[in-house]
Amino acid sequence: MARTTKNKSKIKRASPNYELEVEFLAGLDKFVKKELKRYGHISQVKKNSLILSYSGDLRRLKDLKTVVAVYLLNDFEIPRPKAILGQENFTRLIANIRLVLEQNQFKSFRINAAGRDSSVYKRIAQEIAKATKLKHKEDGELLLRFRKEKNIWQVLIRLSPKTLAARDWRVCNIPGGLNATVAYAMNAMANIETSDYYVNAMCGSGTLLIENNRAKKLLGFDNSEKALECAKANLEKSHTTAKLILADASKMPFKDNSVDIIAADLPWGDAVGKHSENASLYTEFLKESARASSRQARLLILTHEIKIFKNLIKKQNTWQISKELQVYHGGHYPKIYLLQKL
Ligand SMILES: C[S@@+](CC[C@H](N)C(=O)[O-])C[C@H]1O[C@@H](n2cnc3c(N)ncnc32)[C@H](O)[C@@H]1O
Repeated sequence: MARTTKNKSKIKRASPNYELEVEFLAGLDKFVKKELKRYGHISQVKKNSLILSYSGDLRRLKDLKTVVAVYLLNDFEIPRPKAILGQENFTRLIANIRLVLEQNQFKSFRINAAGRDSSVYKRIAQEIAKATKLKHKEDGELLLRFRKEKNIWQVLIRLSPKTLAARDWRVCNIPGGLNATVAYAMNAMANIETSDYYVNAMCGSGTLLIENNRAKKLLGFDNSEKALECAKANLEKSHTTAKLILADASKMPFKDNSVDIIAADLPWGDAVGKHSENASLYTEFLKESARASSRQARLLILTHEIKIFKNLIKKQNTWQISKELQVYHGGHYPKIYLLQKL
């Protein structure tokens, strides 16, 4: 059973107070806290998770923009996982799994635990399958994580079949596609106005365009037709209206002083582009951005080429860094920069 905020030792099936573990990408805690403020009480904030005491419809949480996943937390004061099969514990676990099944359609489940191939977890999986009628599969939709925290065994039941970063609008992805929670946070950093002309340079699959929820005049460009086709499909699915054009970052098709925000998840030289070409690509991009941007313009960048980018910024006098933030993204720690035109 999920822990309750009022009385942790008291266990009731349908308590309206849930204790939830919210997972997010390291670096985004400030945005997550801001978004969750109106959902309940936040505690135990760690590098990439926090605890949310929440009362209300669990379905509301599937629309969160800054978090990767939300889990219903179940504590068991037991010495080893096998004891979960004891009648009282197991009844409580199944009641909470059913609570999550009411929110979403799941046909299968999977277990994530150290030693999940052991006979104990096989037995636990069998019993869960029997009680819930879900199939136990390697890639099952309902994720059940078992872990030990101090002296307590915990089962975390993920509320959604996919992570919340895997947005419903994403029907197409490209190598180096941006995590949607990072794109959302980047846009939040830039204080975008509805009247801003927002250009997503090197837009790839269009993540930054779609996760911008303010600017109305949107344009994305890329030098890859394949990427633009991918962006078109995603834009359509998300009902986002944006112009897409085939263009090179070294020759942007905009008039001087015309764009208010230029956002770019620049090639890092691993999944996209070559490290050896990035210094010249970044130089050209910064030069063209300076020319095309309006007086009050902002430049919103994500890059893992931190050294190259910082050196170029030192050498020019058009942009000044006003905010920077390091985030976790796909095994790397790139930085988000917000620059203001001087
Ligand atoms: C890191 S990816 C962007 C991913 C994108 N944010 C997304 O979510 O899908 C970089 C993109 O830059 C594009 N690109 C690389 N060099 C370019 C150039 N010189 N001009 C325009 N686009 C370029 C690539 O085709 C690729 O789509």
